[in-house]
Amino acid sequence: MPLHTVTTVAECRAALEDARRAGREIALVPTMGALHEGHAALVRHAREVADVVVVSIFVNPLQFGERSDLERYPRTLEADQALLEELGADLLLAPDAEQMYPDGGSSTTVHAGPLGDELEGASRPGHFDGVLTVVTKLLNITQPTIVCFGEKDAQQVFLVRRMIRDLDLPVAVHEIETVREADGLARSSRNVFLDDRQHEVALTLSRALRAAAAARADGVPAMLRAGRAVLDAADDVDLDYLTAVDPETFAPAPDDHAGDVRLLVAARVGPVRLIDTLLAQS
Ligand code: PAF
Repeated sequence: MPLHTVTTVAECRAALEDARRAGREIALVPTMGALHEGHAALVRHAREVADVVVVSIFVNPLQFGERSDLERYPRTLEADQALLEELGADLLLAPDAEQMYPDGGSSTTVHAGPLGDELEGASRPGHFDGVLTVVTKLLNITQPTIVCFGEKDAQQVFLVRRMIRDLDLPVAVHEIETVREADGLARSSRNVFLDDRQHEVALTLSRALRAAAAARADGVPAMLRAGRAVLDAADDVDLDYLTAVDPETFAPAPDDHAGDVRLLVAARVGPVRLIDTLLAQS
């Protein structure tokens, strides 16, 4: 079946009505477009587990702090449609801001709670409220049985899972492992803004995570020291944070934490703020 593109909430609901009535498995892959291999992995997974694969492309103004960041976010709709067609997605929902926020914004929003102000939220105030609000809207519009997210945005996935649990939303979250370039750089729509040298520098993030994970047996402080040493040795990495959290709670992992540890790093390299993550198993 060729990819069907819709741009309005009404068209989207109409396109999915028969599948929903028939009790078919519907998977949603929410994206902001500029699709890359990371998104492709989500769509392939959705194709495997669901009868109907819906992808949304919407650059959500509510989750951007600076207007300039929103404006320069890459938009590649035609290439995205071609990739989704190739991957066998069924439906693309590509609304504009007017369709999603007819009043210019949303008076009613979902609040991410204190964790929404930490880590990624500390440097991007309101970001996670914007993410959770748009994800709720997309879930209500498409009413999927499954929603797919990438592990790379670990804090986002944690907050979405918690929102789904807290608000009893009837959807299962499927989390797909981070897709990396051959050299280890986590795939991101923002990588296109890195020149060759900056790309090389950006590899420091995944190297630091691997060094930290390798020290798992020596405890959390040793892990952070090992990761930090790699980051400190690199020029031109403007580190925001390197931290280790308990994946069950997202609270900082205590020094003697016995279970798995999620390592998180965020840094600015050239014009781009990059994040990466690794689960260090106990
Ligand atoms: O991860 C993203 O691309 C966005 O935060 C999402 C989940 C599509 C919401 O706009």
